[in-house]
Amino acid sequence: MEWVPLDLGVIRRELETLRLGRAVELYDAIDSTNRRASEWARAGALDGAVVLAERQTAGKGRLGRRWFAPGGSSLLMSIVLRPDIQPLQAQRMTMICSLGAAQAIEQLTGLIAALKWPNDLLLSGKKLGGVLTELGVSGGRLTHVIVGMGLNINLALEQLPEVMSPPTSLLAELGRPVDRQVLLLSILSCVDGLYDRFLSGWSPHEAWRERLDTIGREVSVGDADGVVTGVAEDVDADGALLVRSSDGVVRRMLAGDVTLRGERL
Ligand code: BTN
Repeated sequence: MEWVPLDLGVIRRELETLRLGRAVELYDAIDSTNRRASEWARAGALDGAVVLAERQTAGKGRLGRRWFAPGGSSLLMSIVLRPDIQPLQAQRMTMICSLGAAQAIEQLTGLIAALKWPNDLLLSGKKLGGVLTELGVSGGRLTHVIVGMGLNINLALEQLPEVMSPPTSLLAELGRPVDRQVLLLSILSCVDGLYDRFLSGWSPHEAWRERLDTIGREVSVGDADGVVTGVAEDVDADGALLVRSSDGVVRRMLAGDVTLRGERL
């Protein structure tokens, strides 16, 4: 499929953010924008620095998986954030970035993107994108957070390999391609606004919770310790999912993979 490349000059000229994208790199091809953003963060990248790529040769997904995206089809970005918070609070940065992406998609297309715990963006119940958050910790302190987002934009679904969650793209949902550059600027501006509010004391928890389609549903959550099945009752401020299993015990899941087993209860 023909595609229009992102333009670094336009991005630099048109961004009106306080922090997001004030420093920005754009690669035609790179192994992984998250890998590059971590390297840049360790070398002193500014709060809000952004790494973009048209193509990744070793895009990383959650839980050791790969992330596939044909060149020019997607938005592939990693954001470096340096909030003064504890490592256990870092999921707040994921909340801010996924909310910002969902807001921008809604403003530009009118489509309402839901979120699936912990890190997926959904349209019509299918996976539009994923977020991979990685932490920089030194001496028990958080030095930086890398929030990597992969969003399927102008992508025909047959271009993707078989994956566990059924995927979708903005092209598939709208039936027309979307200007990736306009969407990118809008995402950076929405995330910038939310991050600025966060730094002034606002918590993203409630807005994130409201967009989650996971609450009140029967779920199976698999993590390193096994699978927990029950009803997803709530999420707490640190982003953990509270699952009540049939024995009545509520378990607090910090990470994992959710399978939605039924309709909202
Ligand atoms: C998931 O497994 O759902 C998370 C996928 C995250 C993919 C993005 S693409 C841009 C950034 N760079 C990476 O290597 N991964 C993230």
